[in-house]
Amino acid sequence: MTQDELKAAVAREAVKHVVPDAIIGVGTGSTANLFIDELAKMRDRIQGAVASSVRSAERLAGHGIRVLDLNDVDDIPVYVDGADEVTAGLAMIKGGGGALTREKIVAAVARRFVCIADESKLVDRLGRFPLPVEVIPMARAHVSRALVAMGGRPVLRAGFVTDNGNQILDVSGLVISDPAAVETEINQITGVVTVGLFARRGADVLLLGTSGGVRTLRAA
Ligand code: 5RP
Repeated sequence: MTQDELKAAVAREAVKHVVPDAIIGVGTGSTANLFIDELAKMRDRIQGAVASSVRSAERLAGHGIRVLDLNDVDDIPVYVDGADEVTAGLAMIKGGGGALTREKIVAAVARRFVCIADESKLVDRLGRFPLPVEVIPMARAHVSRALVAMGGRPVLRAGFVTDNGNQILDVSGLVISDPAAVETEINQITGVVTVGLFARRGADVLLLGTSGGVRTLRAA
């Protein structure tokens, strides 16, 4: 199976986790897009969706799915989103699509995070994929120096502005043996908006697309 077929398989599986008559949280990226397309088939059975990016909101609306502002929502039973890397312990690197801040916010509200990914995303240790860090533009150099002091090699994502009007540093070279500790350390650098490590609030369920079918991994 191709990577796109594996993504489509986990997107189909993910709709089984959607709670009927409730709000669904929806992530960003090519896998999340396929999930949105599947969700459209059951749009009459959900109240609406909260999106983690402008482009996901537009895709949802294009399918006739009601898009709600997170501030108008009390409860999100399930959030479905992709990942750039995920461990068997369900810690993730996210933000390849630049939506990490809103993804982390919607995930924080959601009761359950369902990660959907093809098997190429499963890693023993996070960090081969450059870690996205959203920064306030005036703090870019300061944050970069702090990341270099941690052993990282930050590179500005050229020509990219987040939905929040900020910039992204993609950081290679970090040793992420303790993802939650690294997440906390980077969060504490002044000027960092969000680090794309999702370890303190990782996924609860991983639907992993493999050539042998969709595997379901659950948090311990
Ligand atoms: C966007 C993300 C995506 O979930 C991540 O980049 C995976 O994307 P794709 O499903 O296209 O591989 O974090 O900010």
